[in-house]
Amino acid sequence: MLPQEAIRAKRDGQSLDAATIRELVAGIGDGGLGDAQVGALAMAIYLKGMDAAETVALTEAVRDSGAVLDWSGLDLPGPVLDKHSTGGVGDLVSLVLGPWIAACGGHVPMISGRGLGHTGGTLDKLEAIPGYSVTPDTATFRRLVRDVGVAIIGQTGSLAPADKRLYAVRDVTATVESLPLIVSSILGKKLACGLDALVMDVKVGSGAFMPTAEASRELAETIAEVASQAGTPTTALLTDMSQPLAPCAGNALEVREALAVLTGECRDGRLLEVTRALAAEMLLAGGLAADRTAALARLDERLASGAAAERFARMVAGLGGPSDLLEAADRHLPAAPVVREIRAERAGYLQGLDARALGMAVVELGGGRRAAQDTIDPAVGLSGIAALGERVAAGQPLAVVHARSEDAAVRAERQFLAALELGETSAGAPTLVQDIIRREVP
Ligand code: URA
Repeated sequence: MLPQEAIRAKRDGQSLDAATIRELVAGIGDGGLGDAQVGALAMAIYLKGMDAAETVALTEAVRDSGAVLDWSGLDLPGPVLDKHSTGGVGDLVSLVLGPWIAACGGHVPMISGRGLGHTGGTLDKLEAIPGYSVTPDTATFRRLVRDVGVAIIGQTGSLAPADKRLYAVRDVTATVESLPLIVSSILGKKLACGLDALVMDVKVGSGAFMPTAEASRELAETIAEVASQAGTPTTALLTDMSQPLAPCAGNALEVREALAVLTGECRDGRLLEVTRALAAEMLLAGGLAADRTAALARLDERLASGAAAERFARMVAGLGGPSDLLEAADRHLPAAPVVREIRAERAGYLQGLDARALGMAVVELGGGRRAAQDTIDPAVGLSGIAALGERVAAGQPLAVVHARSEDAAVRAERQFLAALELGETSAGAPTLVQDIIRREVP
């Protein structure tokens, strides 16, 4: 079928068959479709949607548009597992989760992204570690996944190239916010990693990618369904992002927090709870635990024994970072020159903490990008962020700002105070893990 005929059919609300979708995606990948056709197709999908079978076909075609990683030749003793998050603020789950799963017998080839808008990116966090390379050669990546059990690296050009082009066109044609396009984009890349199972962390709340709780739920359900139909058993968790997940946001600060959790210095909190819930689902999906109780017991033992921290240290050293990061974090991680507390202007209960606004405050400190070519300042950010539901006294510290200059610190303080809501009563803390949606391959 000519591309324009397929675009016309979608424009008129018809369903496209799998073979047509595959041809269109091949044309996106190899340049057979011009930019105008890619844009028109994206708009037709945006306006008319896609049914479940079309979304599965689109996902499979994006996945197969480039290399699909194959781990069979390595004779791995455990399953190949991964997690993907829709992104958030203070969301450093991947840094803790990857090594933790490795310490439990899984293999995690995690291809991560950079910060996008107000959300932080795992690669930007890891690059706060001097020497850490997010672009190792394939042999190093495969060796680390086999021997250490985890490697967190950046996207390579060979994985899902059709998504790269389609996403760039969507970005400039107002067609990003389309469920089938989002699902096939996220899953096309993840399923190209040759996984035995996937766990998705779909965020809900003021810092989430999707604008409403209903939209987050629909995304979670569609992702679990489509990925499983495409052959990868997938579990989606709906988790709270109405405040930063960790009590900090900023690249080096988040690496420090990951080390605190991995080494047992930090033994509770929202970050640990969400990471533990995701990890338990990964062990279950990968057949590494018989039930949830056994999964949690194994995870707790592997964290307490230091095994997870040891995997993190080996991954960092294997990718060019210092071999003594765990022992000498302060020597290796950059620190900001201006560090000052933000204090409560009055007493009250913390009722709201706009996670998106806090993420933007970190971007403006220099911890994220406003334009794709911006460089990141790894040292800046916020730490010691108070939690929703807390009672605060007038003058009590609510957070600590880490800035490059006094002016930047003053601006961040203003933004922080504008992002919070103090009230007379406590609305309590939001539920962290709001639902778990499990789907098997049919
Ligand atoms: N993340 C992606 O990778 N793709 C989308 O379409 C949206 C978020």
